[in-house]
Amino acid sequence: MDTHSLTIIDNRTNKSYNLPISQGTIRAMDLRQIKESADDFGLMTYDPAFMNTASCRSNITYLDGDKGILRYRGYPIEQLAENCTYLEVAYLLLNGELPTASQLKEWVDLVTVHTMVHENIKKFMDGFHYDAHPMGMLISAVAALSTFYPESRHIHDAKVRDLQIVRLLGKMPTLAALSYRHSLGLPYVYPDNSLGYTGNFMNMLWKMAEPKYEPNPVLARALDVLFILHADHEQNCSTNTMRAVGSSFADPYVTTAAAAAALSGPLHGGANEEVLRMLDEIGSVANIPSFIEKVKGGQCRLMGFGHRVYKNYDPRARIIKRIADEVFEVTGRNPKLDIAIELERIALSDEYFIKRRLYPNVDFYSGIIYQAMGFTPDMFTVLFAIPRTVGWLVQWQEMLKDPEQKIGRPRQLYVGAAKRDYLDVAKRG
Ligand code: CMC
Repeated sequence: MDTHSLTIIDNRTNKSYNLPISQGTIRAMDLRQIKESADDFGLMTYDPAFMNTASCRSNITYLDGDKGILRYRGYPIEQLAENCTYLEVAYLLLNGELPTASQLKEWVDLVTVHTMVHENIKKFMDGFHYDAHPMGMLISAVAALSTFYPESRHIHDAKVRDLQIVRLLGKMPTLAALSYRHSLGLPYVYPDNSLGYTGNFMNMLWKMAEPKYEPNPVLARALDVLFILHADHEQNCSTNTMRAVGSSFADPYVTTAAAAAALSGPLHGGANEEVLRMLDEIGSVANIPSFIEKVKGGQCRLMGFGHRVYKNYDPRARIIKRIADEVFEVTGRNPKLDIAIELERIALSDEYFIKRRLYPNVDFYSGIIYQAMGFTPDMFTVLFAIPRTVGWLVQWQEMLKDPEQKIGRPRQLYVGAAKRDYLDVAKRG
């Protein structure tokens, strides 16, 4: 017998089945042959929240949650964060290899050319209420791009796809900056393509009356590293949304908007904003023990802690902690850091967190850095969405090119009412 197989005995029928095992996985469809009777539908798996289901084969990002390993296309995240720019990493994710010097220059020029948005987008942004959440504005504006580029629906044309990808990478920081300036009532700033990706973003956010904005190089680099750390993270909630929506062959703009909507929730990318609110609520180091008791009592969660996959320290959190020191040299120390460090120290020595293997995740320290740089908490998830766009797009491309993929359509276990007959409204008790 093939030792790479699984033998299942169905005790209902005493029949035995041999299912092949490949890469530690059996195919759910192989279970369908296991039937109680000829008219039985066949066995299914029940896996709410995809706790133990691989939905695709992917060669983009490798993650080992037990060992705390994250690699893009085989390269350790630590090495990429140390040596690359965000656009270099974006090229790696999209093309599978790091660019040569000339490829990198060409790529940077290409993305830079697409930083400008249609003037009508500005009018569109103006329609938002003065206190609209920047993430809501970003999601809507990304979806609206679909109406500016109707050819984007030709998703099977590789050239069309490539163009939308560079457009999205170029325009995301611009849309994010428009939402930021709108919420502050400030005039919009056009891109300055002589600056780098994050330098230009800073220009669009913070330029005032000066003729040319000069981004602080330490802060621009810190933002670039944060963008690298957020670029992809395999099959998380928003990426799964990107694949699911994209599997219906919707265009990449509305698909990216859907992924960004998934990211906005407080259990996902919205957690960085929640961390800051939590630190505000705690207020001082003295209040930490009572807050921890509330968490342990189930009254609230320790935001920025825990992860579906990482059951060891999130490698991104370690890098972010290091960047924080560099940023604080420029901005001055964010007093929230003391609360965060003490919170981490207490949590990591507490049985509740140890038993559940809850460690700080990427969102725990990123907000503290963003706040020190001058961002308000409602911008934090927007800062996550910009770099994650490349991850969504590369996963979308991979899904479209994968001959095994079809429209995403899970099964359900129906637990509702059995068949019953309509009763006229006058006869209902
Ligand atoms: N604080 C307190 N308890 C927690 C936390 C937390 N942050 N996270 C998990 N737990 C407990 C949970 O109550 C449960 O305990 P019990 O077994 O007694 O019921 C146990 O740990 C397992 O939790 P779970 O909810 O089943 O785990 P999950 O894999 O479904 O959830 C998570 C993962 C990230 C949604 C969750 O850890 C969480 O809500 N964390 C806080 C929000 C957060 O920081 N999210 C950002 C995630 S990383 C970046 C990203 O994805 O964008």
